[in-house]
Parts: sequence; structure tokens; C-alpha cells
Amino acid sequence: MATTTMKRITYISNFSRPLSLDDLDAISEVSIRNNKRDGLTGALFCFRNIFYQILEGDEEAVDRCFARIEKDDRHSKVFILEVESDIERRKYAEWEMKPVILDESSDPLMRPIRHLLATLAHTHRTLEKYTPQRVLREIQGGGAPEDIPSSYQNRCVMFVDLFRSTSIFESWSVEAATMVLHRFYDTALKAIQTHGGVVSKLTGDGIMAYWTQELVSSALGAAREMLWEFKELRDRSPEADNPLRLLHAGVGISTGRVLEGNIGSSVFMDYTVLGDTVNSAARLEGITRKAGKSLIFESGTLEALRRNPGSGWRVRKVGSYRAAGKESPVDIFTLDDPSVAITMDHTELQEAIRALAGKLG
Ligand SMILES: Cc1cc2nc3c(=O)[nH]c(=O)nc-3n(C[C@H](O)[C@H](O)[C@H](O)COP(=O)(O)O)c2cc1C
Repeated sequence: MATTTMKRITYISNFSRPLSLDDLDAISEVSIRNNKRDGLTGALFCFRNIFYQILEGDEEAVDRCFARIEKDDRHSKVFILEVESDIERRKYAEWEMKPVILDESSDPLMRPIRHLLATLAHTHRTLEKYTPQRVLREIQGGGAPEDIPSSYQNRCVMFVDLFRSTSIFESWSVEAATMVLHRFYDTALKAIQTHGGVVSKLTGDGIMAYWTQELVSSALGAAREMLWEFKELRDRSPEADNPLRLLHAGVGISTGRVLEGNIGSSVFMDYTVLGDTVNSAARLEGITRKAGKSLIFESGTLEALRRNPGSGWRVRKVGSYRAAGKESPVDIFTLDDPSVAITMDHTELQEAIRALAGKLG
């Protein structure tokens, strides 16, 4: 008899809309019917707005079924908790799919299970927000993130920084400062994610993100989009006491070789990129104010752009710049685009932040 590889997937997801008991019955019915046909077994728990499912069987059948489940619009935020490959035995051989609607059950034993599931879902949703995307992807594929080998890669690295954040945090009320910070992160992270960037870390008042070198055009797209959005936010908030009118930020981009992988120890690990390209992106962000442009990149990015042209970017040389500790200066560039204009100089911004502090009380 031919031996087939068996696999088990365990995941949680959220209802994408309120689902009635009839809706849940319909899911159970089709699951039982299809799984009987495909030789799959498992269990499906529903509680409040959470699904928790275990699906096991022949590897190809599990993958085919899971591909359908993932696309199902009755739930969203599917998060794989575990993928077990090459399993020898089924754990739930007696059920094609055992549906358990925990909200409905009066069995006292279900109380701790309800509690466990709610805690599990909450913990995972929270951890998702704090975990680097590459690490999440590895966990979702059933791998061990600590085993991802480090390697040299060509990456386009971006630093985004909120201008004058120290003055903001020193002089504004907690509410005003966190509101501006929240809008800053929300806008920049959305632009980075829409353009396929990987967010590596939040630095307190800034963001480090990266793209593969071939996606340099997407990195510039993200920069331009967030700078436009910041401008729109300012334009929509002209009132003297509105903190958003002082939301200005700078973006530095550098492209080249980085060391990508796990750093840290058995106590604390981070999956990140390191090296001169990363330092250079941070330095370029740091000179945006002096250069008078809110986006600055170097020749590595320009060369990558020539190899991967994207959407007809018009590039302008801003000048040259010698970083501390470097022997020769490097040429620096920006986009020929109104979004990169710095409309308030450094001292003016500093004074406006102080003046606003008085208005905030
Ligand atoms: C939480 C959840 C769990 C599901 N579990 C299964 C399952 O175990 N097996 C299955 O065939 N379909 C399952 N479905 C339904 C599939 O997404 C899909 O609608 C169905 O397989 C399509 O079957 P059909 O082509 O026979 O209509 C599930 C859907 C949801 C929302």
C-alpha cells in the first residue's frame, strides 16, 4: 500500500461579520461533507467571534482544503498556530469535523476551555502586532524562526523619523503627543505596507523598514505616499491649537548589502538587517532637515532604480555629503516631486511646537 504523508494544521481566525447559528451550521455541514469525501478529520470550535480549527489528513488534501478555508470571507485574520508535517497518526480520526459552539454549551467543562480560547486568541493578536513579519511568516509556515539562517542580501532600507519629536514629547500634553505619534505611525506604516515593505522596527519616534533591492520603486512610492499624507493631514488641521498641523517627518533611503537574520541571545531575539546600508539610511534621514528635502537617498538607490525603473521617477541631485568617520563625500538625491518640500524650517518648527504647548494648557 502506498504511504502518504500526513499533516495537521491548527489555526485561529475571527468572524469577519456576525454569524448566526444557521451560518455556523452551514459551515459545519459543508465541512463534514467535504472532509468525509477527502479523508480529512478534525474539530472546529467557535466562541464569541473566534474560530479555532484543527484539520488533519493526507498532506495534499489538507493543503487543498486549507487554501479554500483561507479564502473564505466569513472569517479573516487567519493565524496559523501550528503546522505539523509528517505526522504518523491522526488525533481526531473519529470526526470528519467536530463542530463545537462554545457559546451554546452549558457543560461546565467548557468554561475553562472558553477561557483558554479567549486568552489564546487575545495573546496571539497582541503578539502579531509586536512580531517582525518575517518571523510571523516562518511560524505560520510551521517553521522555527530561531533557525532561519543569516545571510547577506541586497536591500533597500528606509528610516522615517518624526521631526522634533523630543520637543513634542517634552512640551506637549500626553494626549496631544500620543495623538500626533499615533497619526504619524498610522500614516507611515500604512504606506509602507501598501507598497510591500517589511517593517523591521519602531524606534520610538521613527520606523525602520526594508524592501528587496528590486522593489526600490515601491520604497520610493511608499515615501512619496506618506509625505503626501502628512501634508494633507497638516492642511486639514490649520487651527492654531491643532497639533497635527506640526506633523512633519523625514525619510532616508539607502540601498546595498545588509546582513539579514537573527541577532540576540536565547533570552531576547530580533530578526533584522544590519550593516553600513542601514547606518547610511539612518544618517540620510538625519540630514533631510539640513538638505531642505524631506526625502533623501544615495547613489546605491539611484543605481537600483536604474536597474528597476518602476514608474518614471524624476530624480534631482541635492548635493553631496560626508558622514562623520567617512573619507569621501557621497552624492545625495531626492525626488523631483512637491511632496518632498520642507515647508517649515527647523527653528520655525521648534518655536511653533513650543507656542502650541502653551495653547494645549
Ligand atoms: C472557519 C471555517 C472552517 C471551515 N472548515 C472547512 C473544512 O474543514 N472543510 C471544508 O471542506 N470546508 C471548510 N470550510 C468551508 C470552506 O471555506 C469552503 O466554503 C468550502 O470548502 C467550499 O466547499 P464547496 O466547494 O463544496 O462549496 C470552512 C469555512 C470556515 C469559515
